[in-house]
Amino acid sequence: MSDALLPVYDRDLVLVKGKGARLWDSAGHEWLDFAAGIAVNGLGYGDRKVVSAIKKQADLLIHASNLYHTEPGSELARRLVSLAFPSKVFFCNSGTEAWEGAMKFARRIGHEAGRTGYVCFEHSFHGRTMGSVSTTWTAKYREPFEPLVPGVRFCPLNDLAAAADAVDERTAAVMVEPVQGEGGIRPAAPEFLRGLEDLCRQRGALLVFDEIQCGLGRTGRMFAYEHSGVTPDILTLAKPLAGGLPMGAVLVREDLAPAIKVGDHGSTFGGNPVAAAAALAVLDRLTAPGFLDDVGAKGLYLTRGLRRLAKKHKGAVVDVRGMGLMIGVELSGPAAPVVKGLRERGILAVKSGEKVLRLLPPLVVKRSEMKRLLDALGEVLAGGAGSRFGPRNDKKESGT
Ligand SMILES: Cc1ncc(COP(=O)(O)O)c(C=O)c1O
Repeated sequence: MSDALLPVYDRDLVLVKGKGARLWDSAGHEWLDFAAGIAVNGLGYGDRKVVSAIKKQADLLIHASNLYHTEPGSELARRLVSLAFPSKVFFCNSGTEAWEGAMKFARRIGHEAGRTGYVCFEHSFHGRTMGSVSTTWTAKYREPFEPLVPGVRFCPLNDLAAAADAVDERTAAVMVEPVQGEGGIRPAAPEFLRGLEDLCRQRGALLVFDEIQCGLGRTGRMFAYEHSGVTPDILTLAKPLAGGLPMGAVLVREDLAPAIKVGDHGSTFGGNPVAAAAALAVLDRLTAPGFLDDVGAKGLYLTRGLRRLAKKHKGAVVDVRGMGLMIGVELSGPAAPVVKGLRERGILAVKSGEKVLRLLPPLVVKRSEMKRLLDALGEVLAGGAGSRFGPRNDKKESGT
């Protein structure tokens, strides 16, 4: 479409509009979206309440410096705290920025004690800026950008003994996704998270959860950590928070927050009133009676359907895992041809690592739409040739 763009993404479709879980491209083709802007479009496309909140706030005030308060920003902070845990909120504009904030706040809190290290996990993904990429496991994302932030150690996920070996008096934080997204939809076991909590308490390190992809309703609960009963010291949120507008948030436990002083961190656009107004509308929708239960029920429906397919195509499917509407189908071979096969049938999905098909539909996806996905995936796994738009080029999916 535009050769003026730096080619950090491999892409071809030009999308022009959306409604619910459906998208339309510039050629007029309709697509069923099982990627949801990589977990951003939780409420799908064109949610009336979100759109009207954005329009209303844009008429009033689009931006104000963070040297001043705005009503939507203040109200959103209060809402997030009331939904999560007693904490203070820092707003920014993306997931990676939220993660950078969490890394800085953890070091700031541990500064006097000389705590500068981070214990992270294999298959983690925390973003692309220098701090975030330093804590991201995949070597190809890190190595071309070395030297990175020092003091990061990676342990296998769900291996408490390895974490216990890694956490010491220099550790500022243990940092983990309760459900790993980019790394293959790998849930951290509840007992592992509880073990990390104990370890952090015993050794004086902070526990930081990255819920940028798995948070805000995606797993059928408002926060993925609720499934384990473990509350982090610092929580990061982003992707679906503002209904598609750029916004991230870092929640810092209330009693730790006094360590963060005026001037320690900042963001020109963070907490932008239009994004905050959109986020308030998103939270209204997520907290509506029955909404999250419905996400859980739909997740179960989809997972069961996928497990049936896995049984039928034992050679092709190794595992079906995830929580709520964050589901990974691990294949015995590369996921790219399956993503392509779905695309030929009018369905957008993404990979997670090389072998995992990642399904992240909008939380408002209908059962009939999930049935369509299951039928199409069944055809693809059976090696069916049916193509809706004719052959397409075999482009590699580019993840986030
Ligand atoms: C768990 C997690 N953390 C951080 C990020 C980075 O977010 P962003 O792309 O908004 O910078 C992502 C993006 O995929 C993510 O999945």
